[in-house]
Amino acid sequence: MQFIDIKAIHARSSAEIDAALAKVLEHGRYINGPEVDELEVSLGTFLGPIGQPVNCTAVASGTMALEVALRALGIGPGDEVITTPFTWISTAETVALVGATPVFADIEADTFNINPIEVKKAISQKTKAIIAVDLFGQMADYSALEAIAEEHNLKIIEDAAQSFGAEQNTRKAGTVGHIATTSFFPAKPLGGYGDGGAIFTSDESLSKDIRAITNHGCKEREEHYILGTNGRCDSLQAAIIHAKFPNFRDEEIRLRKEVAARYTQALKDHVSVPTARSGNSHIYAQYTIRSMDRNSLAEALKSKGIPSAVYYRKPLHKQKVFSHLPTAKKSFPVAEEAAEQVISLPFHPYLRETDQNRIISAVLEHESA
Ligand SMILES: Cc1ncc(COP(=O)(O)O)c(C=O)c1O
Repeated sequence: MQFIDIKAIHARSSAEIDAALAKVLEHGRYINGPEVDELEVSLGTFLGPIGQPVNCTAVASGTMALEVALRALGIGPGDEVITTPFTWISTAETVALVGATPVFADIEADTFNINPIEVKKAISQKTKAIIAVDLFGQMADYSALEAIAEEHNLKIIEDAAQSFGAEQNTRKAGTVGHIATTSFFPAKPLGGYGDGGAIFTSDESLSKDIRAITNHGCKEREEHYILGTNGRCDSLQAAIIHAKFPNFRDEEIRLRKEVAARYTQALKDHVSVPTARSGNSHIYAQYTIRSMDRNSLAEALKSKGIPSAVYYRKPLHKQKVFSHLPTAKKSFPVAEEAAEQVISLPFHPYLRETDQNRIISAVLEHESA
């Protein structure tokens, strides 16, 4: 049994992927090929209301997407950016990479997302932005975050690396905030076959800067008006993601919810299962439960041939790389407790019911012992 069966996901789109790759090999435009535009148009159209596509720039990774987003918003030395300590390190490391200072705010116990009440407490004169992460595939509390941002004149970046395909009321993940970013890391809901990411914004002028920054700050060849980098998504990667996208949109979003619903139905009376807040449609990048003895549950599952994973064992304020930051001296009890209790079960859209029943039985056996 696989934790995420990438081969099963590949099998559903393999003919389309083969054809798309053959096309790239035929035309040979490995950088800035037409597949990159096609991917950007498809994703932007998917996210926006009918007739109003969101601007999309495909980039080299979800980490690159965050760094470029911060640069495009002009965030740098002297600025503070509030974010969650319970996330993959990219969310905070990119803040430091652009010369700004990450400031952590604790999370909500039920969603694992940044807690707007804690964000408010963390605001200072230097705060310029909030990066909210849609952890495990559920969007953060954007109505509360947007109200805070408006009151204090802050930018919002939505880190939708784990939530592409999720929704909140009428809004899709990737459309919230001044800029939203996502990742196509292979294990993500819409995974590529290598590194990739995308940046989304409805602001035309920001979008132009974002595109320029990912391409060495160029508007036209050899005219560099802004400090940029090589942040591009290559044509082969774009072709793969674009070929997988229709299946993701038309089938896998629904299947992911069905697999999650089966877990939840069987486990909810016995363990702490993921809760989708009212109005939220969760995409379950991970199906993450809590256990009072997470390590022994992992061992019990392993002994039965069932893989599991822990996201995240160590919150970011405890990471050495951030130990010099004033925010690292604080405690974030909700994130710290989550880091000790969370465990993610095997999850992908094609998880067979028979395999899932085995996992459920093993979890129940351990948790009721
Ligand atoms: C919340 C979050 N932000 C950012 C990233 C960075 O994405 P990538 O691995 O594509 O650089 C990831 C994924 O790994 C992530 O989970």
